[in-house]
Amino acid sequence: MSIIDALTTRNAHPRVQSPGPSASELDKILSAGLRAPDHGHLRPWRFVTVTNDARQRLGDLFAETLLLSNPETPQAQVDKARAAPLRAPLIIAGLLKYQDHPKIPRVEQVAAVSAALYGMSLAADALGYGCVWRTGTYAREPLVISALGGAPADEVIGFLYIGTRAGDAKPLPEVSSAEYVSQF
Ligand SMILES: Cc1cc2nc3c(=O)[nH]c(=O)nc-3n(C[C@H](O)[C@H](O)[C@H](O)COP(=O)(O)O)c2cc1C
Repeated sequence: MSIIDALTTRNAHPRVQSPGPSASELDKILSAGLRAPDHGHLRPWRFVTVTNDARQRLGDLFAETLLLSNPETPQAQVDKARAAPLRAPLIIAGLLKYQDHPKIPRVEQVAAVSAALYGMSLAADALGYGCVWRTGTYAREPLVISALGGAPADEVIGFLYIGTRAGDAKPLPEVSSAEYVSQF
């Protein structure tokens, strides 16, 4: 697949199943992301892979954050949060590891992590896997951030849910560049 084809046909695929990428495919996916543009080569990121039983531990944390913010959270909502990470055989959590820097503000560091996650999602897609980028309230929950190895100033920029595609691909939306591009 040419790079242009990969870029123009990338399509989030939320319904995925086992198997996930092999170890060598995962290495390719991670390497694709780690070549993201990054002002000052700060590497303001940390990527955490979640597979097998660790997905249940992540789900338990998701559920715990709901109950901490509202002990009356309906059971169905708690169960849904607990099961959320089981929707894919592989999750890559992309954390912003914010670094105070005189010339490189937070927004640029978020941009670098986002570019890395986008590169990983493109690589997963190009290898034939389904991938969807999710956040949800959990991405900003201190409990989740610290369990993934982050500090209070960090946050999860995205969870990539990756696996073998299940079901049909959704139609690609029509995008007209004229709508979003102008000439100065
Ligand atoms: C930062 C970010 C956070 C997102 N969070 C969610 C999410 O929590 N749940 C969700 O269904 N989609 C989320 N999305 C959107 C999907 O990843 C995807 O882009 C969307 O389903 C549209 O599909 P498409 O990218 O193929 O057009 C998020 C995207 C980004 C960039």
